[in-house]
Amino acid sequence: MSFKIVEQATPRLNRCELSVPGSSPKLFEKAAAGDADVIFLDLEDAVAPDDKADARKNIIQALNDIDWGNKTMSVRINGLDTHYMYRDVVDVVEQGGERLDLIMIPKVGTAADVYAVDMMVTQIETAIGRKKRIGFEMIIETALGMQNIHEIAAASPRNESLHFGVADYAASTKARTTQIGGPNPAYAVLTDPDDAGGREVHWGDMWHYAIARMVVAARANGLRPIDGPFGDFSDDDGYKAQANRAAVLGCEGKWAIHPKQIPLANEVYTPSAAEVDKAKRILAAMDEAQKAGKGAVALDGRLIDIASIRQAEALVKQAELIG
Ligand code: GLV
Ligand code: MG
Repeated sequence: MSFKIVEQATPRLNRCELSVPGSSPKLFEKAAAGDADVIFLDLEDAVAPDDKADARKNIIQALNDIDWGNKTMSVRINGLDTHYMYRDVVDVVEQGGERLDLIMIPKVGTAADVYAVDMMVTQIETAIGRKKRIGFEMIIETALGMQNIHEIAAASPRNESLHFGVADYAASTKARTTQIGGPNPAYAVLTDPDDAGGREVHWGDMWHYAIARMVVAARANGLRPIDGPFGDFSDDDGYKAQANRAAVLGCEGKWAIHPKQIPLANEVYTPSAAEVDKAKRILAAMDEAQKAGKGAVALDGRLIDIASIRQAEALVKQAELIG
């Protein structure tokens, strides 16, 4: 281990993060009764400019009045380049009450963006005597944000998670796609011809670099990496494939832009009983090995060593949080 200890953000379940437009209060009760770990009430892109003021009021009322159970509650404010953002922060933090856990900052481009929101939130929290510190979720969804992701991730002790906003990221990088998330058949390679001259098309994941980079920046700063939206809510298999490949790289959860996607994210991001059992067996085997003065042993015909303990502990800890 490095001499530098990476402090971990407040631990929270974040398997599924449901987005709910602040301009649609009729959806709030259903969201509160659902199974998403985190809900973000949106003031940004799901809300038309003329509806921003009403959406703010709806959100403030809902944070105070609705029973959100044990969900983590977040509000996505507008970007720092708009004139809505300061009023979002002032009104929501002043009037949202202690039920507000997180603020989601979209289109973060530099560490100074985080600093600016931190300064505002800190002043308001102090002025109103809030008991609980509000945390930050940051959407990485521009080329600038992806370039500066490491400084952004380290910019505030309020930071809890990084989110990959694939739709805006595609727009910002001028990537060739018009759908929200998912693969593009043009991002593929051809195998060399086989003996009969046949060639196969192997699709690639055009978002691999972005997600892998986000995972590194998040984990190096003790934050949760979360995969963003998948727009085709009639394609369950497509959603699960996207969720799985992000989970494999280290993401802890994925957005749902429709309630249909909540159970899919929960399924992918809840370790299976078999995985938890295997992790526990690894811990038991390594315990025995260490008592016998060994650093590595074989389990089920495979090598396990001290690094396996850390992997297994992370999985068991996640299962305990869910349980
Ligand atoms: C989310 O905000 C996205 O742009 O994908
Ligand atoms: Mg976006």
